[in-house]
Amino acid sequence: MKRLIYISHATRTFTAQEIEAIGEVSAHNNQRNEITGVLLFIQGIFFQILEGKPKDIDVVYGKILKDPRHNEILCLKAEEHLKTRMFPEWSMRVINFEEAYSNDVLFYPIKTLLQTLTESFTILERYTPQSVINQINKGINPLRTPTHIADKIIFFSDIFAFSSLTEHLPVSDVVAMVNHYLSLVTEIVTAHQGEVYKFIGDSVMAAFEADQADQALHAAMEILEVLNLSRQKNRDQPLGILYAGIGLSYGSVIEGNVGSPLKMDYTLLGDAVNTAARLESLTRQFPYALLFSREVQQRCQTAPWDIVDLGMHSIKGRSKSVAICSINHPIVKITASAQELYSLIQHELEKLSR
Ligand SMILES: Cc1cc2nc3c(=O)[nH]c(=O)nc-3n(C[C@H](O)[C@H](O)[C@H](O)COP(=O)(O)O)c2cc1C
Repeated sequence: MKRLIYISHATRTFTAQEIEAIGEVSAHNNQRNEITGVLLFIQGIFFQILEGKPKDIDVVYGKILKDPRHNEILCLKAEEHLKTRMFPEWSMRVINFEEAYSNDVLFYPIKTLLQTLTESFTILERYTPQSVINQINKGINPLRTPTHIADKIIFFSDIFAFSSLTEHLPVSDVVAMVNHYLSLVTEIVTAHQGEVYKFIGDSVMAAFEADQADQALHAAMEILEVLNLSRQKNRDQPLGILYAGIGLSYGSVIEGNVGSPLKMDYTLLGDAVNTAARLESLTRQFPYALLFSREVQQRCQTAPWDIVDLGMHSIKGRSKSVAICSINHPIVKITASAQELYSLIQHELEKLSR
């Protein structure tokens, strides 16, 4: 059995009858699906506990997530393999604190408790890697996940000539550029089933499952395409010189918690991580904004592009050299040489800072 606890915000004010109606529909549906639980409503905040068979909970939670009557839905906890229910008698008991309990001594403490919980979770969620949030949503406690070996496609990307940009542009422009870049990379990687692990300055480290080489390449190409369109739309502005390099590698990595009891990082370590980071750096030498190892290419089923074999290259920190590939496409091969692209950015930067 699974138990899922979430908190959300009402998108408008609700009458007592409307809250009751949510409860009635829920109780009716839940009875049919052997789901039990409780729904608390207090000053615009919903707090719900759902319990039932994992498949049924996932279906109903999927519907609840799409319900326009609330938003900012945060899964606080999901537990699986439970033996007993907390609320075996309630197919969905609604407790509307506005209605019946506004004079209750518990009204303000409960309201404050829920508001504080929402606020803290919203803050923590922003700083938490997607991979950790996904585990919490699946009912896994990331702190108890043992470190393990996993095969992954590792993704690294960062902004081209970032040091020059920070040197010449006002801080507000640099921050706007970085935010624009990190947002678009996160959105596209996530949309292609990848997981963003961390931001390191202007760099993004992400990973795809071993059988998702196609998605990884499609994500990389979409990022380059969106950047290309954004440059065209923002000529003579800082976003008009926003170029990026992307590196992809495949291999076994160590996944899990590293750090000290005071500060923990849920991360990936290993040769494939180092290789992806180095391939990304090599985009500063090759005239290709995307470089990937041959192993990534070999795992693709449907790459609809003209793949170029760039030969074997030795990379720092690795004894064996790596077979490197890229794609022959104008959004990848922007200039004839990486130096030419660098000069182009310098030239535009000088115009911008005049
Ligand atoms: C705060 C909140 C809690 C809800 N809880 C449940 C629930 O426990 N069970 C349920 O079936 N629907 C629940 N709903 C309603 C669903 O979002 C959705 O409208 C409903 O399941 C659709 O029912 P239908 O498929 O019969 O049309 C809830 C909606 C809100 C806003």
